[in-house]
Amino acid sequence: MGSHVPLATRVPTAIAARDADFGRHLVRFAASGGAFFGSEKWGGEGCDEGFGGRLASGDGADTTDAAVVDELTHAGVDARQILGRAVAEAIDLRRRRALLDVAGGSGIYACCLVAQHPHLKATVLEKRPVDTVARAAIAKRGFAGTVWVVAGDMFKDSWPAGFDVHLISNVLHDWDVPVVKKILARSFESMAPGGLVVIHDAHLNAGKSGPLHVAEYSAMLMHSTEGRCYSVAEMREYLREVGYRFEKFTPTAAGRSIVTARKPA
Ligand SMILES: C[S@@+](CC[C@H](N)C(=O)[O-])C[C@H]1O[C@@H](n2cnc3c(N)ncnc32)[C@H](O)[C@@H]1O
Repeated sequence: MGSHVPLATRVPTAIAARDADFGRHLVRFAASGGAFFGSEKWGGEGCDEGFGGRLASGDGADTTDAAVVDELTHAGVDARQILGRAVAEAIDLRRRRALLDVAGGSGIYACCLVAQHPHLKATVLEKRPVDTVARAAIAKRGFAGTVWVVAGDMFKDSWPAGFDVHLISNVLHDWDVPVVKKILARSFESMAPGGLVVIHDAHLNAGKSGPLHVAEYSAMLMHSTEGRCYSVAEMREYLREVGYRFEKFTPTAAGRSIVTARKPA
């Protein structure tokens, strides 16, 4: 029989409050997002341009209600900001200098990391036209000059060199195993010796018996993308195959976690 301990007694109050805030913003996001996403496939082709891309080109705006777009954008950003801060607090980047946020979307994670670690320079690698949205969002947050954006296709173009941290956040869950391994291999090739790769995602436990909410999220991803949630054990193995040395698994917020690994010096 499993031991079901009420969540509130298992997690510190600050974390519980942060997760509750995340939930509130997610409900706002879902409530305002229906008109936008409809049957749009995430991952694969749909994800190539992403929400930001459709906003940039204007062709995703089935809705004519600017307030819906505004609420959707802000709710998504507010939720991600909570996750971003949790990632920034969970990793020791004191001796790191340059971070590449791979397929970094609006750059919210790069901004959160630079806010927490001001000595760090960050660059977001994003596909066109999302790079334009990212640049504008970063400037709006006041991070122009600290967080840069490079337009590129992570599958076809060379990844910029000279970075000693790669953040791969909520990206691998969009793709099937061969593509996941390709992304990790590309990271390893371009990573500075001794560099750190940080995989931020919703991870299943090593035995794939839970957590239940990650399994549910994985089922949703399997329906709507080419990917799923990977387990800590799978991630560890894929990282090892491309040459990385697994470092650790750290829970962050709202069922998300980070897996870190190092490239040998
Ligand atoms: C699920 S979003 C994750 C965004 C961000 N990292 C986060 O954690 O919120 C996936 C991102 O991958 C980007 N993307 C998809 N295909 C790409 C490609 N071939 N090259 C670069 N970015 C790509 C999309 O534009 C989108 O912003």
